[in-house]
Amino acid sequence: MSVRARRRGTTVRATRARANGRPAAKDAAPARLDPRTFTARELMREAERAQRNAYAPYSRFPVGAALLAEDGTLFHGCNVENASYGATVCAERNAIHHAVATGVRRFTAIAVTAREGNGAPPCGMCRQVLHEFAPRMRVIWRSASGRLVERRLDELLPYAFVLKEAP
Ligand code: THU
Repeated sequence: MSVRARRRGTTVRATRARANGRPAAKDAAPARLDPRTFTARELMREAERAQRNAYAPYSRFPVGAALLAEDGTLFHGCNVENASYGATVCAERNAIHHAVATGVRRFTAIAVTAREGNGAPPCGMCRQVLHEFAPRMRVIWRSASGRLVERRLDELLPYAFVLKEAP
């Protein structure tokens, strides 16, 4: 590959990476937290780390989620938007799909963060997906004034849709 072509490739990648205002963070490897003693603030800090990888060039509304499994494993998620807008995936579903794909299905809590000044509880679709696995999990987000808020998922989604056949 010529130097110019290589440079052009780098420019295209750099432009894409900057599309949501910041480059992807490579250091967002999930850590662990003790599910019996973790604090809402600690889990929110993880959500803020996850948010750095959000791909949100269309809405410019980066979201980060940190999902804590019952065994203490942490899963990061961020929104991943698409030129075909409906193909966008929210941060919360990104996190839980990642967890389920690695064989983890039992969860204690999730923290979600978005732009400062915006409250960011999970959207309806994400509530339904989280409910499938952990109806009583703790859900933590920031109110519009920046205060940490916490509710149980079954408070956020009463009368959730369920099928009896599910194990
Ligand atoms: N979004 C999330 O990631 N989680 C939510 O619960 C609500 C919305 C994302 C989707 C889209 O990329 C952007 O926020 C604006 O709707």
